[in-house]
Amino acid sequence: MSVSTNILGIETSCDETAAAIITISDDKKSLLVRANDIASSLSLHAVTGGVIPETAAREQIKYILPVISQTLINAFGPEVDMKNPPISAIAVTYGPGLIGSLLVGVETARTLSFLWNKPIIPVNHMLGHIYANWLSESSEAHRTEDKAAIAFPAIALVVSGGHTDLVLLKDHGVYEVLGGTRDDAAGEAFDKIGRLLGLPYPAGATIAKLAEKGNPKRFPFPRPMLHSDNLDFSFSGLKTAVLNTVKPMHRTSDQIVADICASVQQAIVDVLVYKTIKAAQNHQAESLLLGGGVAANEHLRKQLQLSAINHNLAAKLFVPEKSFCTDNAAMIAAAAVFYDSPIPWKDITADPELYY
Ligand code: KG4
Ligand code: ZN
Repeated sequence: MSVSTNILGIETSCDETAAAIITISDDKKSLLVRANDIASSLSLHAVTGGVIPETAAREQIKYILPVISQTLINAFGPEVDMKNPPISAIAVTYGPGLIGSLLVGVETARTLSFLWNKPIIPVNHMLGHIYANWLSESSEAHRTEDKAAIAFPAIALVVSGGHTDLVLLKDHGVYEVLGGTRDDAAGEAFDKIGRLLGLPYPAGATIAKLAEKGNPKRFPFPRPMLHSDNLDFSFSGLKTAVLNTVKPMHRTSDQIVADICASVQQAIVDVLVYKTIKAAQNHQAESLLLGGGVAANEHLRKQLQLSAINHNLAAKLFVPEKSFCTDNAAMIAAAAVFYDSPIPWKDITADPELYY
C-alpha cells in the first residue's frame, strides 16, 4: 500500500449501515479516523426486541449510499470528487453476519470498486472488532505512540451480541481462537436478561447504567464454566437463573431491578475477566485487547485492568474508544490495513457463516 493512504470502510453485517475513512501513515503506526458515520435501524428493532433481518436489510438499502457520500464529504470536504474520491481501496465486511445485510455492503462495495477502479479488501467482522484497538481519533503524538505499543503475543477478548471469543494473536495474520461461547454470547445474555426485566433492546448499556445504583452481591447468580479447564463460555444458564429469580416476584421495585442488573453484570464480568487473565497467563501475553459492543462496559474495563494488576501480568491493556466498540466501519478499514489483500471486484462473496 502506498504512503499515507486513505481507506474507505463499509460495514453492514447486522442492523448498522456504516462507512468510514481512515488515513494510514506510511509506517502503519497511525490509523487516523477522518470520518465515521453510522445509520442504525435500531429504533425499529427496539419495538420487536430484536433485529428482524428483512427489516434491517431493507433499511440498509435506503441508507448505504447517503451514508457513504456523507462520510466522503466529512472526510474530504463538500468539494470531494464523488466520481473519483482520494482513496486507495474499499474495505468491506464480508462475514459473519446476516446474509441480506452483508449483501448490501458487499454489492455496494463491488459496484463502487468497478466504477472507481479501486481494489476491494474483504474483511472479517470479528477481526474488525479486534483492530478497533489500533484506531486513533486524533493525531496527537501520544495517542499514536500508544497504539504503536500494541505488542505480540496479544490476547483479544471479543464480546458482542453474537460472539464471546478469546483469540491469541501471535502477529498480524497469525492467530488462533482459544475459546468461545457454547450458547448465548455475553451481549446476547445482557439483551435477553434485559428483555426479562422489561428493558429496551439492546439492553447492555441500560443494564450497566442501572447497575451503578445496585448491589452486585444481592443475587448470587451462577458464574457458568468459571472453573472449567478450557477457555469456553456459557451464558444461557445465567438467563434461566434470572428468570427463576424474577418469576416468583409479584412486584419489583427500582432497587430490586438495579440489584439484579448489578448482580448480572458482576456474574458476566467475573467470568470474562477470569478466563481472559487465564489465557494471558497461559500464553505470556504482552498485550490484552478488548473489542465488541460489550467492551464499552465500564465495569468490565475496570475489573480487567484491576485483575491484570493483581495477577502481576506484564500485559498492557488496550481498549477502543467506546464509539469503536459497537459496530462501525472504521474498525473494518483498520483490519484491512494489516490484512491487506486487495482483490478484483468480481471475486468477493458474502459469507454469513465466516469464522475467523
Ligand atoms: O459489537 P456490537 O455492536 O454488535 C454485534 O456485532 O453484536 O455489540 C452489540 C452488543 C449488544 O448485545 C449490546 O447489548 C452490547 O453490545 N452492549 C453492552 C454495552 N454497550 C453495548 N453490553 C454491556 N455494557 C455496555 N455498556
Ligand atoms: Zn459486531
